[in-house]
Amino acid sequence: MATPLPWCHLNGEQLLLTEARVSPLDRSFLFGDGIYEVIPVYGGRLFRPQAHFDRLDRSAAAIRLTNPHSSAGWQALLQQLIDANGGGDQYVYLQLSRGAEHGRNHAPLPEIPPTVFAYCSPWPTVAAGTLSNGLACITAQDTRWARCDIKSVALLANVLLRQLAVDANAAETILLRDGEMLEGSASTVHVVIDGTLITPPNSTRLLPGTTRSVVEELADGLGIPRRAARIGEAELRSADEIWLAAATREVQPVTRLDGMPVGTGLPGPVWRRIYDAYQQLRKAASQP
Ligand SMILES: Cc1ncc(COP(=O)(O)O)c(C=O)c1O
Repeated sequence: MATPLPWCHLNGEQLLLTEARVSPLDRSFLFGDGIYEVIPVYGGRLFRPQAHFDRLDRSAAAIRLTNPHSSAGWQALLQQLIDANGGGDQYVYLQLSRGAEHGRNHAPLPEIPPTVFAYCSPWPTVAAGTLSNGLACITAQDTRWARCDIKSVALLANVLLRQLAVDANAAETILLRDGEMLEGSASTVHVVIDGTLITPPNSTRLLPGTTRSVVEELADGLGIPRRAARIGEAELRSADEIWLAAATREVQPVTRLDGMPVGTGLPGPVWRRIYDAYQQLRKAASQP
């Protein structure tokens, strides 16, 4: 895990992360009552920020929280933070909590100022072999709540599910519910079957990924057929290719699932085309 960059934003102030303090009565600490976003920064600029601001607005509306900043407000606040942290390639984590009351009550939802927090980390280096050999993943039954479309900070189930992957020396846990594959503990999962890219349809059972939209846009540009469709467990296990997509992963090939090879056991040709196109897009986004 990379050490975070020094400067953070807390409630309108830019300060050193080591000096930032939040009340222990903050509702995100007591109840997990908050939402967040993770946004890539390439060449000192936010990558596709509007998709993240739109999803933040949807998460805020879903939990009945007023977003204190417009998209332009977030953009300005985060750019200032990125610049203070030296620009270049990094990523921004931002969190909105319902704030701190004096006391602990589930409800009524208090009309208090939300806690606004953001900090930056260096862009993660991809582990050796990820792109040439692909990743190992495991599957597990999804134990999360019924509103996985909200990017909530209440991530206990995701944390425990990801630990299963760590225990198995794997990179990610791919989640199954009622015999269907939904997503990873912190990633979108795409599969390729007979040359077609298939991704589970967006619903309350999974997070609508921003990287997923980029992957879909690239597939359309390359003429790769795609559809959003339910993926049964058997289809997942017999897919020609499986990929993980997330803001800080971009798009990575999965070549082993529960100890068995995926397709040929090597990163697939459709993944390679999308990966190369993603890198082109990233390069273009990094240009001043
Ligand atoms: C559960 C879950 N699904 C999907 C994603 C991918 O979303 P994005 O591409 O916006 O990073 C994430 C990202 O963290 C996630 O936590």
